[in-house]
Amino acid sequence: MVILDGKKLADEMKTELKTEVFGLKEKNILPGLAVVLVGDDEASRIYVRHKEKACHELGIQSFSHHLLENVSEKELLNLIFKLNTDKKVHGILVQLPLPKYINETKIIESISPEKDIDCFHPENIGKLFLNEPRFLPCTPAGILALLKKYRIEISGRDILIIGKSNIVGKPLSLMLSNLNATVTLAHIKTKNLKEKTLSADIIITAVGRPGLITADMVKQDVVIVDVGMNRDVNGKISGDVDFEKVSKIASHITPVPGGVGPMTIAILMKNTLTATKNLCE
Ligand code: GUN
Repeated sequence: MVILDGKKLADEMKTELKTEVFGLKEKNILPGLAVVLVGDDEASRIYVRHKEKACHELGIQSFSHHLLENVSEKELLNLIFKLNTDKKVHGILVQLPLPKYINETKIIESISPEKDIDCFHPENIGKLFLNEPRFLPCTPAGILALLKKYRIEISGRDILIIGKSNIVGKPLSLMLSNLNATVTLAHIKTKNLKEKTLSADIIITAVGRPGLITADMVKQDVVIVDVGMNRDVNGKISGDVDFEKVSKIASHITPVPGGVGPMTIAILMKNTLTATKNLCE
């Protein structure tokens, strides 16, 4: 069994990106990422901290906007309008989920598509759909980079994705289809999930339910990518997969933490540099 070491690959990618930042600075271009967090959701705070730390490591300027839970939609929109026209800001990241009283779609649509390094804006999703992407969505692109690094064949394989979110499942199904995989997009309401997991060559799970995938549900030499991030009462983090038992059957498996999470951040940094180059060069 091979561990798909996302931490290691993300570190390698960040080293390369750091060189690129140096190159941009020589041309008097300083890449900048605005990070917007609303409220104090514990998980979001942790994700945002990791993203700001990565900017710092790479020499990308990060502008933190941590807003209180009761901020009005209008105030948030005003902030985004300012960031859209700010020459020092090349990427804008609004951490999701937003509090329920804010219209998430409206906020995403207010971000300038050129600065939408998450690839959430309908224009960028449309470009991705047409296979002419401006940016690649971070988690799906991170997963593809990890599979590529470990030379895992995509074309012609039966790939089961569990979770149909706009951030992971839906864009990933599109990207894998473009690479000629046979994709099944399952979710929490899927009937006979075990039947589907047992026939999959690659299982990618992004549900947020610990113990969703157990050893009896997978075939020998399956490839497992676990995007789940679940924190138990003691603060211990686990994915959606029973790692200990499933790893004995799988040919490749991502750890949680240290698998997909660091890859998401590395791609986010890459997209920030892409946005910087598109806007400044
Ligand atoms: N919430 C969960 N994943 C993500 C992500 O990749 N980007 C943002 N902005 N919010 C998220």
